[in-house]
Amino acid sequence: MPSHSAPAARSQDLKKIYGTGDTAVHALDGVTVEFAAGEFTAIMGPSGSGKSTLMHCLAGLDSATSGQVFIGDTDLTSLSDKEMTQLRRDRVGFVFQAFNLVPTLTALENITLPVDIAGRKVDQEWLDTVVGRLGLGDRLGHRPGELSGGQQQRVACARALVGRPEIIFGDEPTGNLDSRSSGEVMSILRASVDEFGQTVVIVTHDPRAAAYADRVVFLSDGSVVDEMRDPTADSVLDRMKQFDPAAMSPLAK
Ligand SMILES: Nc1ncnc2c1ncn2[C@@H]1O[C@H](COP(=O)(O)OP(=O)(O)OP(=O)(O)O)[C@@H](O)[C@H]1O
Ligand SMILES: [Mg+2]
Repeated sequence: MPSHSAPAARSQDLKKIYGTGDTAVHALDGVTVEFAAGEFTAIMGPSGSGKSTLMHCLAGLDSATSGQVFIGDTDLTSLSDKEMTQLRRDRVGFVFQAFNLVPTLTALENITLPVDIAGRKVDQEWLDTVVGRLGLGDRLGHRPGELSGGQQQRVACARALVGRPEIIFGDEPTGNLDSRSSGEVMSILRASVDEFGQTVVIVTHDPRAAAYADRVVFLSDGSVVDEMRDPTADSVLDRMKQFDPAAMSPLAK
């Protein structure tokens, strides 16, 4: 694994405080973490531990209270709003639970939108591979409103993959999917890392999804508390059991 190369993204003493005084919530309590280029990382931890907050700050969708975030060599805190918009458009791919598909465009048009906006050419072979592997081939002409939740999530995943951005962030990208679709999404993300050196960082509650990653970073109460390389579903599950069981409700199912 190319963990010696410059990180694709990193944070330095990142803090995010919601509210003030006695009711202040320290969603991120000084997070310093690196994500190596060409690696697949899963972020895990109890509900409320700060996973989404960290991911939103890393992806330039939210600003921290203090500390720094870098995508490649770019310090996000130094960017103007316009530069931030450009960075999100040109260098970052997202798969979030709210899929943010454009309702008036077809699935195919949604998938190629970021590449089209950037004025780049779609790699047809990779597009066909992604669409085929995600089982979207016969849904490409449909609009998001005519697709199931899981299909919409797979379209969002295809959209993030097709442009081969510097880094793909996913906040529970398999959260709405059954185990088969979830496996398809995780294996195509895995393939993009293995075949193109894509950098992928996802949040997940699912040990089986985390097992596709090269590395798992564990958050608790806004801090990185542990990490694990070459995770298996069993090793991840064992580690998660050490957290407060009440906070791990998705495991109870
Ligand atoms: N807009 C907000 N205002 C106030 N508090 C917030 C806000 N957003 C998040 N929080 C709080 O910050 C903490 C971290 O939230 P975050 O969404 O990052 O957790 P998470 O680890 O993603 O949890 P989950 O697994 O449930 O998605 C939580 O205590 C949450 O209640
Ligand atoms: Mg979350």
